[in-house]
Amino acid sequence: MVRNSFYHMAPLIIANWKSHMLEKQAQSWLEEMKNTLETTQKTVIVCPPFTLLSSLALDASLLLGAQDISPYGMGSYTGEVNGAQIKEFATYVLIGHSERRQYFKEDDALLTQKVAMAKEHDLIPVFCVQGRDTMIPEGVEIVAYEPIWAIGTGKAESPEEANEVALDVKAKSDIKTVLYGGSVTAKNVASFTTMHDINGVLVGGASLDPSEFSQIIQNA
Ligand code: PGA
Repeated sequence: MVRNSFYHMAPLIIANWKSHMLEKQAQSWLEEMKNTLETTQKTVIVCPPFTLLSSLALDASLLLGAQDISPYGMGSYTGEVNGAQIKEFATYVLIGHSERRQYFKEDDALLTQKVAMAKEHDLIPVFCVQGRDTMIPEGVEIVAYEPIWAIGTGKAESPEEANEVALDVKAKSDIKTVLYGGSVTAKNVASFTTMHDINGVLVGGASLDPSEFSQIIQNA
C-alpha cells in the first residue's frame, strides 16, 4: 500500500510516546506492531522522542511525527531541534500539548511561532487544544482536543461532549480534522471514532503497550 501522508485515511490514530522509551524498547515495540502497521487501512502516526526519530525512520511502515519544534531555525539555540532537522525524519509535529504549556510555559505567541516554523518546513502541525476557547494559530489543519483532566487519568471525556467541541472547532474555522485525546484505550476508542465530528484519536499511555495499541488500531 502506498502511504500518502497528505491523504488521511480515517480514522487518524496518533501515538504520543512523550518522554518514554529507549532505543531497545522502541525496536521491540516495532517488532510487535509490525504486522498491524503493515496491514491496517487506517492512518497511524507515531510521535517518539527526538532521540528515536532517526532509527524509527528506517522502517518504511511508520509515519512519524515529532513532539515539539523549535520556534527558531538553524543556528545558535542550544538544546533546540528545528524544523529542517525534524523534516529529515518526520512529517508531522505536535504543537501546544498541555504538558508543554504547563511545564515549559509555552504560550499562545510562542505556539503561533512554532506553527509558522512547522509550515515553513512543510511539516503538518497537530495542534492541541484544551477546550473550545483555546486559540488556534493560522495555518493549522489538524486539531486534537485534549481536556487536561482527562490526560493520563483513566477518565476520558464523554464522546458526546468531545464531539460537541470538535463541531465547535470546525464551525469556527476551516479545520476539517479534529481528534480526541485523553485516556483513550482499546475499550473506549470506538466510542470516539464513531462520533460524526471526531476524525481520530491522540493516544498517550496506551500507545506504549504494543498489544493495547494494536487493539486500539483495530477497534478505532
Ligand atoms: P493519555 O495521554 O492517552 O495518556 O491520557 C494523551 C496525551 O497526552 O496526548
